[in-house]
Amino acid sequence: MRARHNGFAPQPSQYDCCIETSFPERCSTNDPVHFSSMNRFPTTIPGLDEILHGGLFEGGVYILEGPPGVGKTTLANQIAYSHALKGQKTLYVTMLSESHARMVQHMDGQAFFHKSAVNSLVLYISGYRELETEGLKAVIGLLRGELARSGASLLVVDGLVVSAPDIDEGVRQFVHELQSLVIAMSCTCLLLTSGRGNALSAEQTMVDGIFTFEDHLFRGKAERRFQVRKFRGSEVVRGQHSFCITSDGLRFFPRLESLPLRPKEAAPACRVKLGTRAVDDALNYDGVGSGTMSLAVGESGTGKTLLALAFAAQASVEQPGLLLLGSPETPFDACALAEGFGIPLKQAMASGALHVQSIGQTDESLDEMGHKILRLVHERKAARVALDGLAALADTSAFPERGHRFLGRLLHELRRAHATSLFTLDPAELSLAGGTPLAPGVSALFDNLLTLTGGRERQLTVAKMRGAPTATTSVALVGSA
Ligand SMILES: Nc1ncnc2c1ncn2[C@@H]1O[C@H](COP(=O)(O)OP(=O)(O)O)[C@@H](O)[C@H]1O
Ligand SMILES: [Mg+2]
Repeated sequence: MRARHNGFAPQPSQYDCCIETSFPERCSTNDPVHFSSMNRFPTTIPGLDEILHGGLFEGGVYILEGPPGVGKTTLANQIAYSHALKGQKTLYVTMLSESHARMVQHMDGQAFFHKSAVNSLVLYISGYRELETEGLKAVIGLLRGELARSGASLLVVDGLVVSAPDIDEGVRQFVHELQSLVIAMSCTCLLLTSGRGNALSAEQTMVDGIFTFEDHLFRGKAERRFQVRKFRGSEVVRGQHSFCITSDGLRFFPRLESLPLRPKEAAPACRVKLGTRAVDDALNYDGVGSGTMSLAVGESGTGKTLLALAFAAQASVEQPGLLLLGSPETPFDACALAEGFGIPLKQAMASGALHVQSIGQTDESLDEMGHKILRLVHERKAARVALDGLAALADTSAFPERGHRFLGRLLHELRRAHATSLFTLDPAELSLAGGTPLAPGVSALFDNLLTLTGGRERQLTVAKMRGAPTATTSVALVGSA
């Protein structure tokens, strides 16, 4: 499908592989302006094409800037090996004195790495000698010759500024000639630099895209962040996005609340049992409405976890469940606790109807957790989702600023997936984790609000229930699970 670029962002569901656009800055003032079609170059990196509304553009020059160790080289290799899977060649030019063998060794532990592609579809060459002896002009000569010889459709130039910090005019000329070269060779180019402030400022105005990578420190923990500072030819998902690096390479997590809002489709309404008999009986509605979001609020020891476990244990083949443990407890601990109260959690897990997963117990970012929850819900077609310990989401750098909007969007996406959900929350724990008190109005995001109180007799009060009379209902919880 071809679509003419009209200045509006394409809907993510209609990502175009081919967008027509023009690049007037590329033409000299005397040239007539030509409209030429620009094909997308999907990176296939999880989350990145979603941020870029479909990928890079073929023939574009993109600067990847960020401090050493942030992941630029890994990303460029990941794109190169994904390109190789399509039978396409990459010319990977390092400007550093580091040997290729060393870089390839580092890639060896990555799932995307294919030894058979090295030197056949991913060609590594060094521009270091040319740069050191004859300067950047000689590097362009090298690239021209190697691109023509190899027929590569992706060019990576790694380590440009690091090795040449003080030759401004030369660098400007280099970027200019590189642009002409990649257009002539129908090649897409990634230019990796360690991004020293505005070292490339003049050149950045000419290139097709600038991507900034950074390590953000939060309470001593580092979160990797990515931002598209410039992207010619289409809209992008703006703002800072988090990403992670694992043995599967880089994975990007677009800011959840910045993604296009898609409406919820209507589904037949029914009642979903909470699984705690006293509560279901007291509600007189046989549980809560399907696809609604419930929040159980209470201090430590008031019975929130039991409520969540009982809800999750109701999972069945018809209603697959997902239980997210926001505490350091393991699924084994949860089963042992449930067993003591006669909650058939183990049975639900053994039957395959219920999947149990920890959340927030490693250095996950807020968006990483949000995307993980939604991915699991979609993969498992989960109809009931329990998150025991909402505070698990709060120990992230983004929560104090974005927690409220993020949560609103997460709940919207769960509603869209028709996943009846129950979250538990200890306000004290949340304020400790998030560094902020419980944002006023968080409970307003939920359809149903259950408050739990401790003491000699544990009580649950239904403070709000969608579709029910406004009068509150209180039930005793002792031994009622
Ligand atoms: N399997 C892995 N799991 C987690 N982190 C990894 C893994 N492999 C590499 N890394 C990290 O990824 C980063 C790779 O950095 P690199 O791509 O060389 O950065 P740059 O090119 O920006 O200097 C390193 O910080 C390394 O610690
Ligand atoms: Mg590098």
